[in-house]
Amino acid sequence: MDEGFIFGCSAQGRVALDILKLQYPGTAWFFVDDNPDMLNQVIHGAVVIGGLDKLKDKKQPKLHIALGHPSVKLKIVHTCELLNIELIQAIHPSAVVSSTAVIGKGVTVCAGAIINTDAKIGDFALINTGAIVEHDTVIGDYTSISPAACIGGRVNIENEVFIGSGAIVLARTTIGAGSVIGMGAIVTRDIPASTLAYGNPAREIKKIDSSFNWSKVL
Ligand SMILES: CC(C)(COP(=O)(O)OP(=O)(O)OC[C@H]1O[C@@H](n2cnc3c(N)ncnc32)[C@H](O)[C@@H]1OP(=O)(O)O)[C@@H](O)C(=O)NCCC(=O)NCCS
Repeated sequence: MDEGFIFGCSAQGRVALDILKLQYPGTAWFFVDDNPDMLNQVIHGAVVIGGLDKLKDKKQPKLHIALGHPSVKLKIVHTCELLNIELIQAIHPSAVVSSTAVIGKGVTVCAGAIINTDAKIGDFALINTGAIVEHDTVIGDYTSISPAACIGGRVNIENEVFIGSGAIVLARTTIGAGSVIGMGAIVTRDIPASTLAYGNPAREIKKIDSSFNWSKVL
């Protein structure tokens, strides 16, 4: 039986497991996670085998990275590249992805998401459950779009951005790299890089630095 691996055994990992079981029937799935408390736990039939070093002896292992935190994901991707691990996409069969959209390496596209014509989804981006990415929009590398967010046409969302659940982004706007948009925000104008913004209309609340509390986001 083929083996496949999912990095991250939190909620996003379980979501990815559901998708990958549909995408690769007949594959046995395992979680890869550094958290010692999770070692050898069985989650929905998939065993947590430990950190990435456990893949060193596997022949051409395939791995999907299931994380919502953009910069943590970036670090894991770099480690996987050093270890020559093949990084695979997870695209739920119920997602509607235009044949003219360009989908990057290692992306996650969850159930019911819609990616419309000529959109471009960057490497390792996450398009979560029921999110909509409209025509000609560009989603940057490692960017996460949360459930039910609606990104209008010709929007430019740069790398490592996090868009909260149900946020709506006006057509033709730009959201700068590393920014976080709160749940339910209505973005009506450009948001600069490394900025937390939320509300209706979304206002810049503060700059995001190393003290930013990600536990309110993920
Ligand atoms: C925006 C967010 C990161 C919190 O930011 P914060 O500045 O630390 O906010 P705080 O929790 O300190 O709250 C400060 C004030 O903003 C309000 N607030 C927080 N998030 C808000 C939001 N998204 N929209 C409007 N107001 C919000 C709070 O109610 C609070 O108001 P108060 O001062 O009147 O009591 C968080 O609320 C959020 O929206 N996270 C995204 C969650 C998400 O969608 N995750 C995806 C899960 S799959």
